[in-house]
Amino acid sequence: MTTILGIESSCDDTAAAVIRDGILLSNIISSQKVHENYGGVVPELASRAHQQNIIPVVDQALKKAGVDKKDITAIAFTRGPGLMGSLLVGTSFAKGLSSALNIPMVDVNHLHAHVLAHFIKENESDDNQPKFPFLCLLVSGGNSQIILVKSYKDMEIIGQTIDDAAGEAFDKCAKVMGLGYPGGPVVDRLAKEGNPDRFKLNKPHIQGYDYSFSGLKTSFLYLLRDELKKDPDFIEKNKEDLCASLQKTIIEVLMDKLRRAAKDLDIKEVAVAGGVSANSGLRNAFEDHAKRFGWKVFIPPFGYTTDNAAMIAMTGYFKYHDGDFCPMDAAPFSRVVM
Ligand code: KG4
Repeated sequence: MTTILGIESSCDDTAAAVIRDGILLSNIISSQKVHENYGGVVPELASRAHQQNIIPVVDQALKKAGVDKKDITAIAFTRGPGLMGSLLVGTSFAKGLSSALNIPMVDVNHLHAHVLAHFIKENESDDNQPKFPFLCLLVSGGNSQIILVKSYKDMEIIGQTIDDAAGEAFDKCAKVMGLGYPGGPVVDRLAKEGNPDRFKLNKPHIQGYDYSFSGLKTSFLYLLRDELKKDPDFIEKNKEDLCASLQKTIIEVLMDKLRRAAKDLDIKEVAVAGGVSANSGLRNAFEDHAKRFGWKVFIPPFGYTTDNAAMIAMTGYFKYHDGDFCPMDAAPFSRVVM
């Protein structure tokens, strides 16, 4: 029996999960509310909150799983990328517990974990996993990448953003509309009531499979600036149409490159991962591509779209079985090349 405790603390969610023999037993997340007043994550506040949350979160994950500390086989933790102060809390905790229990540690690349979230099984009969090689669109607050996934450990980034991430484009445009942080979910909700064809926004022309969202963001800002001169209530009167047009453009940009990559590589299994994969328009676009292009699509349950420890435990489970352990002096890394 292999029981993996997964710990995630890369940004502003403190999370712990237990996976036994590949099946998820518990998945606990404590999201930090303290950042809402600041329009973004404040790193120092995040690491302090992780320190307060980590013991109760791990305790709850073990209790929910019905697992005692002495039954844990190995501890998997997020080593990076992420906020250094936040990563240090999870890494130090994993080291302390691994040393106290005299069990191995497995370090996990957070981005690999988002992709491997598609392999989390909630029960024995759950067999809806992608087959290698597949493509994964990883879209979050910090990343927009097209990844060619050749195996659990062999992943190649074939395209990525050269400036802002898709989530950042949602959040920054939402911020200038006064929609709060994180703005992605609010844009998604308002977009459902709006006309996506009302406003035309600039689409980038970038080589290959890479993305760019800064031009789109600037064209959105200029549109607001020009219209607000004519009518100070422009945003309030048009926020649904603004959100629908913004969302439609971001999704078209994402799907155009992904479709091209799938065609060039002749791959029909296509997954989406990361926080922005919660977006209803993007999920619909995936379903639509499945019908139009014969793709088999993998869309994660909402609980696995944002940061969670189930995906860390799952990745740790694969690495544990490869004997791929991590030394006690492993330091976290804030940035990573896959
Ligand atoms: O993967 P994630 O939880 O972590 C970070 O990379 O920080 O992604 C967070 C991002 C944020 O930019 C948030 O606005 C976006 O995911 N997001 C969404 C939706 N839900 C979360 N963006 C668009 N529509 C959503 N429904």
